[in-house]
Amino acid sequence: CGIVARIGAADDAVDELLVGLENLEYRGYDSAGLAVQTDRDVDVRKQAGGIDDLRNALAADPPSGSLGIGHTRWSTHGPPTDANAHPHTDCSGRVAVVHNGIIENYQRLRRELSHAGHAFESDTDTEVIPHLIESALADGAAPAAAFRAAIDRIEGSYAVAAVIGGREAVYAARNDSPLVVGASDSTQYLASDVPAFLEFTDRVAYLEDGDVVRVTPSGFTVTDERGERVHRATETVDWDPQDTGKGGYDHYMLKEINEQPTALGRSVSGRTDSGGEEVDLDGFLPGSFDGIDRVHLVAMGTSYHAAMYAESLLARRGVPARAFMSSEYAGSTPPEEDGTLVIAISQSGETADTIAAVRAASAERTMVATNVVGSSLTRECDDTLLVRAGPEIGVAATKSFSAQVATLSLLAERIRRDAVGDPSPDAAAFLSALTRLPDQVRRVVESGAAERIADAFADSESYFFIGRGPGHAVALEGALKFKEITYEHAEGFTAAELKHGPLALVTEETPVFAVFNGGTDDTETLGNVKEIRARGGPVVAVAGGETSDLAETVDHVLSVPSTHPELAGVLANVQLQLVAYHAAKQRGRAIDKPRNLAKSVTV
Ligand code: G6P
Repeated sequence: CGIVARIGAADDAVDELLVGLENLEYRGYDSAGLAVQTDRDVDVRKQAGGIDDLRNALAADPPSGSLGIGHTRWSTHGPPTDANAHPHTDCSGRVAVVHNGIIENYQRLRRELSHAGHAFESDTDTEVIPHLIESALADGAAPAAAFRAAIDRIEGSYAVAAVIGGREAVYAARNDSPLVVGASDSTQYLASDVPAFLEFTDRVAYLEDGDVVRVTPSGFTVTDERGERVHRATETVDWDPQDTGKGGYDHYMLKEINEQPTALGRSVSGRTDSGGEEVDLDGFLPGSFDGIDRVHLVAMGTSYHAAMYAESLLARRGVPARAFMSSEYAGSTPPEEDGTLVIAISQSGETADTIAAVRAASAERTMVATNVVGSSLTRECDDTLLVRAGPEIGVAATKSFSAQVATLSLLAERIRRDAVGDPSPDAAAFLSALTRLPDQVRRVVESGAAERIADAFADSESYFFIGRGPGHAVALEGALKFKEITYEHAEGFTAAELKHGPLALVTEETPVFAVFNGGTDDTETLGNVKEIRARGGPVVAVAGGETSDLAETVDHVLSVPSTHPELAGVLANVQLQLVAYHAAKQRGRAIDKPRNLAKSVTV
């Protein structure tokens, strides 16, 4: 879910709230709403559907006011109905609240409030908050104290913002859910994430867990969990608001696929020299990883596939590594031994499962590779490594994967040098190939071949993806991208796995995308491809370099430029992103906002 608040002097809160919500729609789009403060109470408008629907509904009779709150929802408690949409209100209609997160003790609070005569209208956990505020106000508390009293009663994860009729302030709190303040001279903002208000201000203050903030048109004051005044410094973010728009593309996803050369350039530039000798990874100087002799990587979704990719890079460099889905980490691993480094990988830095994994880790040292400065994981972990992809809005992650793999490639080489004592044997070839990747990705994006493949297999039953080593991570990512945005059945496997079961599913109606790394393991992958061809399954090889022999065995070749075998997966992945994009476009899918999904899953 995404929350936003706008606290200004002029009566145009609704326009800016709608812009903020549109910029946050990647966090959920089941339902949306806003509340604007009026002299006596609050004017609440909310409904199932996306922000466009809300905008249309408001057009005839927009609420007017100078401050308000807004919400775009990804359902957790209760289906996406008008009643369950945020903001939620109290009985008097004087208090409105938006919330992101989960309130664990809401059932108890709801029972208690119901006994005291409060009537509830939704199935949500959130609705207890306005009633708690109402009850404190009825007991004579001032608004700020009433808000604090409500926050003190709730347990769980939350970013909450409230307006109270007649008050020139928004009250907000955070615990385990992101919340940032956007500051300017006469208007202030609050949001789950910076892009919400980036076109209005680039001055940002990151709140900490336990913070309660009172925001007025002229500024904001923060108190910590003990109620003591604390200072939260504002800093200027260097994201360009242009970067968060669609920039002439039909979809954010296509724009972000096209931005990969720039994203990769940023990830690599200044971090290695073109001769490929040095690794200069921000503050991670030589010796930074002395004493590390094994790595655990934790991540979800696309970031988990980047973790698998990095596992393979580290292992090939003599550093034992294992990738875990964050949600499985706590339950499946014994306490870490000395010398274990736990690396979280997360585009948003806010994924609840990954935060939980880091908290469960008993390792002496944790670090996060993330795209978002100031995100929750940067505060949870000892060290932060930025992947520098730039803002990613499309729910289907694209450029963040490429930037993660590039950044983790450099990190793998840095760790290898510290852990083993010397550069990996072909470090120079690997690192100089990394510096060539941006140009090579540009050639893939410009080739147009993926669209023809998507057309050729528009009516297939299922789509399979295979690969080995880094190519296996790419096969899983290719399948994930395909299923997320086309809603077709797609699955990824290791190339050898097919003959141990999934081959039973292969028919003429199940195209198989085979990722070739361009290394010695290609011979085995080709053997697996022949097994598929022998059963009539169509095969698309995604491969680099000289492919004329391969072309005789497979139905189609999606070519990528020739590179180091450990990096071919990045190029293959871009081709598979494009296949998924065009296949989804043919089917008329909501590419940037696929059904049931959200970009940032903070619960
Ligand atoms: C959600 C998104 C995925 C994303 C995953 C991890 O499931 O839909 O696209 O890969 O979260 O997100 P993170 O921000 O931690 O990389």
